[in-house]
Amino acid sequence: MKLGLVGCGRMGKALAVGAMEAGAVAAADFLAYDVRPEAVEELSREKGIRAAANLQELVTRCDVLLLCTKPDDVLTVLREVASSGTEENRLLILSIAAGVTVQTIERHIFNHARVIRAMPNTPALIGKGAAAYTLGSAATEEDAKIARRLLGAVGSVVQVKESLMDTVTGLSGSGPAYVYLLIEALADGGVRNGLPRDQALELATQTVLGAAAMVQSTGLHPAVLKDMVASPGGTTIAGLAALEAKGFRSACIDAVTAATERSKELGKA
Ligand SMILES: NC(=O)c1ccc[n+]([C@@H]2O[C@H](COP(=O)([O-])OP(=O)(O)OC[C@H]3O[C@@H](n4cnc5c(N)ncnc54)[C@H](OP(=O)(O)O)[C@@H]3O)[C@@H](O)[C@H]2O)c1
Repeated sequence: MKLGLVGCGRMGKALAVGAMEAGAVAAADFLAYDVRPEAVEELSREKGIRAAANLQELVTRCDVLLLCTKPDDVLTVLREVASSGTEENRLLILSIAAGVTVQTIERHIFNHARVIRAMPNTPALIGKGAAAYTLGSAATEEDAKIARRLLGAVGSVVQVKESLMDTVTGLSGSGPAYVYLLIEALADGGVRNGLPRDQALELATQTVLGAAAMVQSTGLHPAVLKDMVASPGGTTIAGLAALEAKGFRSACIDAVTAATERSKELGKA
């Protein structure tokens, strides 16, 4: 199977390199193209991925097109693929462009195109991503396996209905920023109570990392883990009560809802 990487920016590079480093694919399985030749040259020089001269070469030689351009550039790429004379249904189109629906991709390419839309997040850059994907009407279970292999190489991956892709954007797509805010705020709390900034930041970061790892490795519900550390009349329950009084829980729910709504708005634009 030959994978054609269209767009070698941050995300395209992260997915390709992550999949290679995880051993899911080899450099020889990729062919890459970008309108910025220097972006492909860097990938060739550093990772041994071969550069294609143009999109047409990718379309002719690859089985999967990994669309990693900005959303605004996706339609240009699709029009070029549609007019390339390639056989309908031969290519799997796997797009990570935010807000570009499966229906939009299908409409701009072929009637029965095999399409998968995915939403990774930036921790994919360090192999710690959280991604979701949805299948187009003609995509097969074999196609889904390819998506899981590629996205799973740079983090965890779930399959959802297309109607939930905006929610995924609001949760895991935008979520790293919410957690950065949490880490910063926790560190501020430490500084407010006397810790030096660097130590406060280190402790806050490791606390978030450790707590997330506890949820993942124990498989316990976060509420159970929370109850386990909140002893009667202790320090943790005092902190939790302060968070509840300030509406922490509903602020998080509202953040995901606001980002989901914004994603829906952008999808219509
Ligand atoms: N970064 C994230 O957090 C994130 C998360 C989830 C999904 N995504 C999605 O991932 C996609 C890529 O994002 P990114 O941050 O990696 O963008 P990026 O760094 O700008 O990379 C996109 C690359 O594609 C090139 N390009 C533009 N038009 C092209 C064309 N017609 N053919 C081939 N290459 C073309 C761009 O060149 P120019 O710079 O010259 O235009 C650029 O090198 C976006 O659709 C985004 O929605 C990103």
